Amino acid sequence: MPVLGLPWWKKGVIYQIAVPSFADSDGDGMGDLRGIIDRLDYLNDGTSSSLGVDAVWLTPVNASPMRDFGYDVSDYREINPRFGSMRDFEELLDACHRRDMKVIMDMVLNHTSSEHPWFVESRSSRDNPRRDWYVWRDGRAQGKPPNRWLAVVEGSAWEYDATTRQYYYHAFLPFQPDLNWRNPQVREEMLGVAGFWLDKGVDGFRLDLINFLYEDELLRDNPRRFGLRPYDWQRHLYDRSRPESLEAARELRRLTDRYPDRAMMGEVYTDDPRDAVAYLGGGDDALHLSFYLDFAERKWKAEAFRDSVGWLEAHLPPWGWPCYYLNNHDLPRSYTRLGRGGDAEARAKVAAAMLLTLRGTPIIYYGEEIGMPASRVPRKRMDDPIGRKFWPLPVGRDGSRTPMQWNGEKNAGFTSGEPRLPVDLSCGDRNVERQDGDPGSLLNWYRSLIRLRGEKPALRAGSYRALAGTPKGVFAYLREAGEERIAVFLNFTAREVTLPGLEVVPERGVWRRLISTLGGDGDGVDLQRVRLRPDEALVLERA
Ligand code: GLC
Repeated sequence: MPVLGLPWWKKGVIYQIAVPSFADSDGDGMGDLRGIIDRLDYLNDGTSSSLGVDAVWLTPVNASPMRDFGYDVSDYREINPRFGSMRDFEELLDACHRRDMKVIMDMVLNHTSSEHPWFVESRSSRDNPRRDWYVWRDGRAQGKPPNRWLAVVEGSAWEYDATTRQYYYHAFLPFQPDLNWRNPQVREEMLGVAGFWLDKGVDGFRLDLINFLYEDELLRDNPRRFGLRPYDWQRHLYDRSRPESLEAARELRRLTDRYPDRAMMGEVYTDDPRDAVAYLGGGDDALHLSFYLDFAERKWKAEAFRDSVGWLEAHLPPWGWPCYYLNNHDLPRSYTRLGRGGDAEARAKVAAAMLLTLRGTPIIYYGEEIGMPASRVPRKRMDDPIGRKFWPLPVGRDGSRTPMQWNGEKNAGFTSGEPRLPVDLSCGDRNVERQDGDPGSLLNWYRSLIRLRGEKPALRAGSYRALAGTPKGVFAYLREAGEERIAVFLNFTAREVTLPGLEVVPERGVWRRLISTLGGDGDGVDLQRVRLRPDEALVLERA
């Protein structure tokens, strides 16, 4: 079967763990590595009673003052003591490997924390040897930053530093100064950091803002354009997706290829999906997987998701492989976002069926499998700097970072102490323990889908073809590998839908129900008369 030849990052399901929020072992209210070790059985214990994921992606675990959830690193070769020690990390790595699970580390290569000793030195004087490790420039006039580039979050991307009367560049928040990748010492150091963790045995990296590493050397201003938020009023021609950043991804790939079976997936922050495709390089020479926001930002419409998938399928190079997710630590949780205005539980099941039967590597975000909703975190408990800055605008990210809901006890079983963010009110009702015992739960639906994916080469490795002629509100596609044919029908509407005689495959044949949100597994189905019940996800296999 073709699936046997697939590398893990193509055939596996990735589970994203927000380390501060998953499980706290020592009662300080902060999730930690030991907490994750204690919960590995939940993720994969080798039997069908666990979730059955193949890899975990950990949000940043490096030393950090944690002013942005760890995306502000102060030492790349240390583990954040709030999460545990290097030995804990090694133990986690080992424990995962013994279960045949891979570990993907978040790597923040674009910027450091302003508390990183390199930056402390760099800002201390203009002639400090580390001055050029960051991007320093004179203003273009008194009180005017070097150019008009904007920070993703807000305002100018340049921050004035009174000590040396120059500006430094930060693509994100002011306490996240950008490293100067044009300095060969910086490049060498950061490649060294990647090598350090590869030597330790991590299986791959999630590369934060990979298309932001380099900016235009001449600091040319971006052309103006119309957009929704101020950052979008510019076409980001000169401050992101520069050719040198792709070159850096290639260099990282050459390093990674020296180790067996490792993979890199990159966050390509862009509004142009072609940028993300570009990071797959010219033929297995850049990132293994790249992702961008499009799929996760679509509204609850069959056509919207079909278009997103269709675009990617049509534009991927032959060596490219899709990667899909509905949630991450930056987005409002899909249970609420996609569920609004309908039956959220039923929609969550349809969404899961889509995520786990499409061609491409699926990423599940902790808590998604139990339908954790977008939480409302009161202002005084907010941790995310974006949430605090823009309050009362609901743009903060804490709502998708609340403690994992393990059980209905105090603090949802996340901690014995005071949790860093309040537990969501849904925890009594929506938690792992409760859903574990309910065959119809969302958790058991995820488990079944992951198991099915593991059993069916067509789902993991097969080709993808959208079925034409489906009625409005239905997304349907065929997955094929060898003789195996699987058809997926997703009803995005709350109405019953009858599909017209579908020319799915030239030969007819009997189709059998593999799984459906509404039960009835194993029944035979006539493809000329498929009937979908409201909010139903139905997966069929040709008998
Ligand atoms: C990425 C991360 C986000 C972080 C930002 C700055 O977009 O996903 O959480 O705040 O980079 O590192």
